[in-house]
Amino acid sequence: MTIKNFLWGGALAAHQFEGGWNKGGKGPSVVDVMTAGAHGVARQITQDIEPDKFYPNHTAIDFYHNYKEDIKLFAELGLKCLRTSIAWTRIFPKGDELEPNEEGLKFYDNVFDELIANGIEPVITLSHFEIPLHLAREYGGFRNRKTVDFFERFAKTCFERYKHKVKYWMTFNEINNQMDTNNPIFFWTNSGVQVKSGENPKEVLYQVAHYELLASAKAVIAGKKINPDFQIGCMISHVPIYPYSCNPDDMMAAEIAMHQRFFFPDVHVRGYYPSYALKEFEREGYKLDITQEDLAILKQGTVDYIGFSYYMSTVVKAEVNEKHDLENIVNGALPNAVDNPYIKSSDWGWPIDPEGLRYTLNRLYERYQLPLFIVENGFGAIDQLEHDLQIHDQPRIEYLAAHIKAMLTAIDYDGVDIIGYTAWGIIDVVSFTTGEMKKRYGVIYVDRDNEGNGTMKRYKKDSFKWYQEVIKSNGESL
Ligand code: BG6
Repeated sequence: MTIKNFLWGGALAAHQFEGGWNKGGKGPSVVDVMTAGAHGVARQITQDIEPDKFYPNHTAIDFYHNYKEDIKLFAELGLKCLRTSIAWTRIFPKGDELEPNEEGLKFYDNVFDELIANGIEPVITLSHFEIPLHLAREYGGFRNRKTVDFFERFAKTCFERYKHKVKYWMTFNEINNQMDTNNPIFFWTNSGVQVKSGENPKEVLYQVAHYELLASAKAVIAGKKINPDFQIGCMISHVPIYPYSCNPDDMMAAEIAMHQRFFFPDVHVRGYYPSYALKEFEREGYKLDITQEDLAILKQGTVDYIGFSYYMSTVVKAEVNEKHDLENIVNGALPNAVDNPYIKSSDWGWPIDPEGLRYTLNRLYERYQLPLFIVENGFGAIDQLEHDLQIHDQPRIEYLAAHIKAMLTAIDYDGVDIIGYTAWGIIDVVSFTTGEMKKRYGVIYVDRDNEGNGTMKRYKKDSFKWYQEVIKSNGESL
């Protein structure tokens, strides 16, 4: 095995585990008005916070009040890094203030200090679905060029404050989710945007995407001035798209669909719009506000590495006749997607495909020649807390083992440069797509259910010991 100084870790996102949604001067974010859903039942986005509705992210697993104990567990697990995010609304509660909220900044000082004291490096996403609600309601989120400046101010504030504590940053989490304009939660959580009737969602998307890519590039430029040693990456959700068959029509359908996956990283990495996108803008007659000055900024603000999540692969067919159920929310859903007959799926319908991770690592590395960072991978499943307080989560161990092995093969055989691997939801958190607690990813169990009942106590699952060994042996135990 040839890996050295590898960042084995766990991944989380502020809104899914912190709780304390209105503590320490924090303002509401777009996620704070999202109710709980279920598999096949969409989460609702309410206009404001309605007293008779349950918002699972408000309390989440209350890391806000338990961070010291939780970090102790992460240290016992042996994590080398923890990937998490900064809730924008702790720092700028409404988003358009000129001065940050000191109490919010102090909270992350405390968290980062505690991590570092425990030998865990913080890896930070600036915006993981946490755009301030005020920016979404008053400005239309990233439809508005002003939001670029608000984000830049937020980014600069974080870079300045934590420049000696954080080296690895990412700008926007899974920025490409919103390519799926059929599912309102992606536009909303990525960009604080809701599509109005009569609008062409794709035209809105590309305008929003441009402002967000610009905001990311501006953040990179500003970050490098503040600390030239920063490593600032993008973060994409990568669900590779296979052709259903060797029929050239299927092959081409998959190739074209992959543009949806590559559009954002193409700009983040290369600093200019890919030709297929320019042709689409022209063909569709989209009127986009993209200035020459913006294009120069995109060119200058390219990323140092590619952070990405990998959970599954998907398959497309050139001709699909079945009617698709858009309620069946899966990241990266496509209208011409069909089941892959060779692989099984999780209880939430997410296909399980470890080879797809090796394939992804190869494709991304060949295309971009930049270091890659697997910042999310994991298995969402129902876990049972037994009478003896044990949790036997063998399917999770199998999922993680198979994916980590695929990654190690990509490193050892294919020569892919990988910075680290952070298992998603290292401690159980609120699911993003469904808002459930019962869709658990953690190696640490949290006693809390979908309705918000439970003691909030933490218990180690079987996977805890297993992952601890993987980290300790640098992957040799597999
Ligand atoms: C990614 C997100 O989409 O996948 C996370 O970055 C999310 O926020 C994770 O939680 C798993 O998705 P879900 O819906 O199972 O929680």
